[in-house]
This record gives sequence, structure tokens and C-alpha cells, in this order.
Amino acid sequence: MSFTSSHLGGESAPKVTISTIQEKKQRHEPITCLTAYDYSSARLLDEAALDMILVGDSLGMVMLGYDSTLPVTVEEMLHHTRAVRRGVKRSLVIADMPYASYHLGYDDALRNATRFIKDAGAEAVKIEGGQKRVELIHRLLEAEIPVMGHIGLTPQSLNVMGGYKVQGKSLAAIEQLMRDAVALDRAGVFSIVLEGIPREVAAMITAEVKAATIGIGAGPECDGQVLVLHDILNLTFAPPAKFVRRYADVSAAIAGAAAAFKNDVEARSYPADNESYHLPNETREALETIAARKRK
Ligand code: KIV
Repeated sequence: MSFTSSHLGGESAPKVTISTIQEKKQRHEPITCLTAYDYSSARLLDEAALDMILVGDSLGMVMLGYDSTLPVTVEEMLHHTRAVRRGVKRSLVIADMPYASYHLGYDDALRNATRFIKDAGAEAVKIEGGQKRVELIHRLLEAEIPVMGHIGLTPQSLNVMGGYKVQGKSLAAIEQLMRDAVALDRAGVFSIVLEGIPREVAAMITAEVKAATIGIGAGPECDGQVLVLHDILNLTFAPPAKFVRRYADVSAAIAGAAAAFKNDVEARSYPADNESYHLPNETREALETIAARKRK
């Protein structure tokens, strides 16, 4: 198929692409990213002009109630990615590859990754891990799939890390993180999530790599920031991590609305007459005539 004018897009805000993210890094413009897992929140984030929307496997914990991200399946991620895709016109949609979807061999990983692009409409995939992912990244890029890396506190390595702990505190750990970041960068990722590492380390990595660094608990020197939507809305039922800033209290809004609805129904004040449908006049009059005849 040849390139046609229909590929150039309309007149509204331009579509965010991998190039947009790379250009923002070069121009030192902050890059914004939030997670979304469904149509309505994705649509609102898109309309709020976030650069990137990540369908994170954090959905396993905040949407599905698992106690880690490890049980999340490819089918669950695809289901949520499709919903997000339907809500997004402009932001770049990235799908997180869940645990065991890229750990069991390159063919299996490629098959899973292509499903996120072809069946669910994601524009890139995210995988956790550093140097050990280089060969996989080459294969994904050969299959025309842009890749976002993720190093530092990588939740899929929960059992190896022995808990959710800030990473990169010792000199040896900093050297390993730097080796991982450089390896991902050379392999061709367009961006790297830096999670749960000291800001000084994130700053060094950001200065070193061409890929855009997107921090979560990694300080302000990263090229951009990502947070889990449910964290910033207070919808997680757990004390927030140090780096979470709460921008709204949606738990309180939902609890308040549910209690008010319950009260109104129990007090028979909902629904009111103006919240009810009515018969057309002729039908109502005909019913009244029938009822009057029956009373005679
Ligand atoms: O799953 C997720 O939401 C993530 C972000 C925290 C980066 O990986």
C-alpha cells in the first residue's frame, strides 16, 4: 500500500507518535504518561492531552484485585487494551506485556507482542528487564513493534527482589542499572521507565541515554513522569507510596454517591416524577375510561 494523504491526519492536535516522544526528549520538554485500563478513563486522558497512555499490568492489582501483577494474563491485558484503544484518538497507546508472556522463548514472546499491536491496537509494548532483554528487543523491532523498557523496581521480579524495594542504592547496583539502561538504549527502545530508584541515579541515566526516561518514583530529572491513574485518584485502598501525589479523592466521591443513592431509594425520593417516563395523553385518557367503566 502506498502512503496517501489520509495518513497525514486531520487538523486537530497532532497524533503522538514515537517520533513525538523522541523529539520531546531532544527539546527537553516534559513527557506525560498515565495508566488507563478502560474506555472512559482512556478517553478522558486522551482529551486531557496526555502524551502516552500505558495499559499497565498494574491493572491486575487496581482493577482485578490480585495481590501482585504476576497472575495477569495476556487475555486480560488484551481485553483492557482494546477498551483503551477505543477511547483514544491522539495519545500514544502502550501495552504492558504481562509476566510469562515474554519469558518462555522468543517465538512465544513475538506471538504475544504482535497480538497487542494487531488485535488490540496498541502502538508499542513495554517489557521489564535490562541487558537480558536485548535480543528480544531486536526481534520485536524487526517485527516493527516499538518497545518501551522498564528497569529499577520491576514488579514482575517481585520474588527475586524480595519485595517492592527501592533499587540502585549501592555503587554496584548503580553500575548494573547504568549497564541495563545503556543496553536497552543501544538495542533501540524509544523510552525507558525508571521505577523506584534514587533521583541522582535517574538523572545520570537520563543524561546518558537517547531514549526518553519516564520516571515513577525516580525524581524530577527524568524526561517524563508516569503514575498509576488509580493512585492519583485515591482508588487503591492502600496507603500511597512516597512518590504518589493525590490529585482527587474518587473513593470519597463514589462512596458519597452510593450512600446518597441508597438513602434516596429507601426514602422513595428517587426517582422523582421528572425522572420518570409518562404515557401520551390519549393513552392515559383511554386507560382512565377503561378504569371508570370497570368501576361501574
Ligand atoms: O503496570 C504499570 O502500571 C507500570 C507503570 C507503573 C510504569 O508498569
